[in-house]
Amino acid sequence: MKIRNFSIVAHIDHGKTTLSDRILEDTGTVAKRKMTAQLLDGMELEKERGITIKAKAVRIKYKDYELNLIDTPGHVDFSYEVARSLRACEGVLLLVDASQGVEAQTVAHAHLAQSLGLKVIPVMNKVDLSQSDADLSEEQLWEILREPILAERVSAKTGMGVDHLLERIVTDIPEPKGNPNGKPRALIFDSFYDPFRGVIIYVRMFDGSLKQGQTLRLMGGGLTSKIEEIGYMTPQLVKCGGLNMGEVGYIVAGIKDIHSVKVGDTVTLADNTADEPLPGYEETKPVVFASIFPIDSPDYPLLRTALEKLNLSDSSFSYQSEVSKALGFGFRLGFMGLLHIEIVKERLEREFNLSLIATSPNVVYHVKFTSKKSHPQELSALRDAGDGYKVIDNPAYFPPYGDIIDIKEPTITITIVTPVEFMDGVMTLLKEKRGTYLEMEHISNMRVIIKYIMPMAEMVIDFYNKLKSVSKGYASFDYELDEYRSSDVVLMEILIHGEPVDALSVVTHKDKAQTQGRALCEKLKELIGRQMFEIAVQARVNGKIVARETIPAMRKDVIAKCYGGDITRKRKLLEKQKEGKKRMKSIGSVDIPQEAFVAMLKID
Ligand code: GTP
Repeated sequence: MKIRNFSIVAHIDHGKTTLSDRILEDTGTVAKRKMTAQLLDGMELEKERGITIKAKAVRIKYKDYELNLIDTPGHVDFSYEVARSLRACEGVLLLVDASQGVEAQTVAHAHLAQSLGLKVIPVMNKVDLSQSDADLSEEQLWEILREPILAERVSAKTGMGVDHLLERIVTDIPEPKGNPNGKPRALIFDSFYDPFRGVIIYVRMFDGSLKQGQTLRLMGGGLTSKIEEIGYMTPQLVKCGGLNMGEVGYIVAGIKDIHSVKVGDTVTLADNTADEPLPGYEETKPVVFASIFPIDSPDYPLLRTALEKLNLSDSSFSYQSEVSKALGFGFRLGFMGLLHIEIVKERLEREFNLSLIATSPNVVYHVKFTSKKSHPQELSALRDAGDGYKVIDNPAYFPPYGDIIDIKEPTITITIVTPVEFMDGVMTLLKEKRGTYLEMEHISNMRVIIKYIMPMAEMVIDFYNKLKSVSKGYASFDYELDEYRSSDVVLMEILIHGEPVDALSVVTHKDKAQTQGRALCEKLKELIGRQMFEIAVQARVNGKIVARETIPAMRKDVIAKCYGGDITRKRKLLEKQKEGKKRMKSIGSVDIPQEAFVAMLKID
């Protein structure tokens, strides 16, 4: 059997999952009657949102070839999944929606694939649409790739052109190279936890072979364990006797300790150990942090177990226990981006049946401050960032303002691809967001690639929606971390009823503090709503109150009515309260709804 391993990469919504589905159907991998749309987006959440979150691998039989297709997500928050998948492949299909043209992630993926030395096959998708312009999109792609590589033209929807594409895959993508009889080496590119069988490892064989019954060794983790089952994905797990050089498949080895398996590690044999592991993956570093707390405090141990399990299928988020004065026991989580936060929170709630409160996300700061005996213990436990700076990923751990010498914030190089007519609007937005111009490049007459340096914090707060609105939805962006730079940022505390609530603190730029403070207090007033007594909501920066709102007490007649004799009304009220409780936390005697903790995201 001849093997071809490839991935499909594209900007979000350009049709990767639809194309994968079509290939599975056309090759008879999945019978037509069993075919459901978006088959590879197996996670309920993926189907609902119509996006791919996890990369997936499928073995396809095509003529006398064994094709291994690895579907990857397109959203920028999940680019690490793409990089991971590509390391298991020899080629990529670089898919472009011909009705949209080249977008920011097309550029990023194209460059990544080229830098890894992979064979790139450009594919123009959605040619069935009357507004598609495959010639123009192809021309744009040539400029990005800096060479004219003929593109395939397909409609993943109707199946047009897919046969031709399959032929191109087997002729153009090179077969895997490695030593079929050497000491076995397999790269772990993914893993997940099965409650009955333990950790299931997804591997790509680079040398030798692995068979059921042998004892494997993880070269980095050191663990040894008997291979109970080995096989491939269709995408269901299908048992087979073993995996040979070049193949992609899964291994079950009764591993219950979820910490012993890491993606990027090399699997070999205990009695025929490889001399060198495969080059691993670069460790992903979370860039935004937020805290989560169980609504019902006794759920804390459940939340811990849930995080451990979820971390196995998504190792790119980090977590650490945290105690908040306001919200009690919870965890501080590090993520790859905003969508990532939403996805992790939703998966925790759905897959583990938890009810959670999340706080506003923020970036990581490097802070230099005078150390004093009076500081709380947390400050001395902070990690070093070099040059006398400490790493602070939680506003609750900012030192008292008088002790701060300097604060550095992370910046990003942001790449925006936009039609020329929206260029001015996009550049005005970047300026508002404290951006600094770097360079600009025209691709075809219609599109332009703009590069800026910008504080990452400005991207966290509502950048995506604003970019979409100034460009009528046509601009797209991608970013890379740049460096930490000194900046006039300040901690803004929120006081409810005169008491600072740590989980509501945010970090913002000095020049924006007053306006944001006002907007935030107004928003909180609206979200918290009237309660039995009057409540003051204040924003404080460097010891000074910069904004204040007062929430008046509920009118007496409303309360009287509620506590009257009408039993159905009382029951209704109780039910309402119960429902409300799901998404509320009481701080002191004030009930604060979940939305209040992320109010910062909703203001300018
Ligand atoms: P992510 O995984 O979230 O990055 O998206 P994706 O690239 O996998 O895109 P997906 O396959 O979910 O397709 C996005 C949308 O485009 C869906 O509504 C598809 O039905 C539609 N679509 C995909 N291919 C075609 C095509 O060839 N023609 C037409 N008309 N629509 C298509």
